[in-house]
Amino acid sequence: MKISIVGTGYVGLVSGACFSEMGNTVTCVDINVEKIALLNKGVLPIYEPGLESIVVNNCKKGNLSFTTSLEESLRDCEIVFIAVGTPMGEDGSADLTYVLAVAKEIGQTITKSIVVADKSTVPVGTADRVKEVITAELKLREVDIPFSVVSNPEFLKEGAAIADFMKPDRIVVGVDNEESEVLMRKLYRPFTVNHDRFISMDLQSAEMTKYAANAFLATKISFINEMSNICERLGADINMVREGIGSDKRIGFEFIYPGCGYGGSCFPKDVQALVKMSKDVGYNSELVKAVNSVNVKQKLVLVDKVISVFGEDLTGTTLAVWGLSYKPETSDMRESPAITIINELTGRGAKIQAYDPQALKEAENFYLKGNSGVRYCSNKYEAIDQSDALLLITEWKEFRSPDFTELKSRMKSAVVFDGRNQYVNYQLDKMGFDYYLIGKQ
Ligand SMILES: NC(=O)c1ccc[n+]([C@@H]2O[C@H](COP(=O)([O-])OP(=O)(O)OC[C@H]3O[C@@H](n4cnc5c(N)ncnc54)[C@H](O)[C@@H]3O)[C@@H](O)[C@H]2O)c1
Repeated sequence: MKISIVGTGYVGLVSGACFSEMGNTVTCVDINVEKIALLNKGVLPIYEPGLESIVVNNCKKGNLSFTTSLEESLRDCEIVFIAVGTPMGEDGSADLTYVLAVAKEIGQTITKSIVVADKSTVPVGTADRVKEVITAELKLREVDIPFSVVSNPEFLKEGAAIADFMKPDRIVVGVDNEESEVLMRKLYRPFTVNHDRFISMDLQSAEMTKYAANAFLATKISFINEMSNICERLGADINMVREGIGSDKRIGFEFIYPGCGYGGSCFPKDVQALVKMSKDVGYNSELVKAVNSVNVKQKLVLVDKVISVFGEDLTGTTLAVWGLSYKPETSDMRESPAITIINELTGRGAKIQAYDPQALKEAENFYLKGNSGVRYCSNKYEAIDQSDALLLITEWKEFRSPDFTELKSRMKSAVVFDGRNQYVNYQLDKMGFDYYLIGKQ
């Protein structure tokens, strides 16, 4: 099948690569000229485990190509995916500027019948808006080209995106006609050979499914973080509580780790977009609102712990930070708790020595650009040199089992703030560390 994917970001690039791996001919389109030039040289703009080899191999085979021209990509194309960003607007709503701009361009460009699939996370009703925009453009051109719009929300997780795409838990497709459903089923068949995981539904339900899924997962995180704050004050141990509740199959162990709050390009904006979407139809979504406010506060818990040890004025304090990305196995720093934590600490005069396996450039060039209180280090041990404390923010594997003797010898004082409760089993206190974790006084 010949496919075009518009928007070559995390979702567009992974989807394009995986569709091409299954033998389809895929063209990925982006307006970012620099990004397309890099991809054409085989250089990936993001870090995602396993992605590079799939991209390089399929480019060599001729299954995958990159262009800035939507028109070129639409030649003989059966399905065009819209996978551009839907960032948060000022009022919390999803900003549809990019999605509707692509819809307009599709309307201006198509020459034959096509299925337009919304893969971006978009509010309920967006498929109808995309349809309206394309129809209006066709009318302006005075042509009658049949097309249909389907909703195909993406559920991949950054850091495990290839596995998620190749072996999805489910494929949700919202449709309003049988032909589109048949075509989408055909496209996804190779991903569901083991058993059928294709769930077709109406357009609105498919759009809502994505928000409901993200809101539920964000709720689990805010719930356990709230429990950890209560545990801390009552003298209970959140890790014991976590094990105690997770063993109940109805609750499960996944997504109930206390930490510094959720970040990333999805949960923060999708939770707020759901609140706005509800408000627009006269419903006050109290639970989802609380999920967001608990998360905003949670990003400051580690900062409060640092202040309780070193005082409000952190001038003269050097803090090592391990982990900048919003989660392990990605270079993505969008809405990462590390941004809030580091800015709060340097704002109080602290000097930060930061290390992350993949996100150093992102931090230096963009998310922490201009923050002169941060020094970027090339490895985790360099970051702790002569530091007063270590803050663990992102649970990358290489931070799981550090050499604590090395830590002690390099640090000015042996103090650890464990934002991910990773060192809970190390008995750091017995090893001579002052040790502070989320959910414990
Ligand atoms: N990142 C994730 O883990 C994830 C997971 C599921 C769903 N989503 C959703 O998927 C969508 C895309 O997310 P992302 O993280 O891939 O975004 P991204 O910011 O990484 O990529 C978006 C890309 O679209 C390009 N673009 C913008 N306007 C364009 C246009 N008119 N023509 C061509 N390209 C254009 C941008 O240059 C950018 O490269 C969002 O709605 C997001 O909520 C993301």
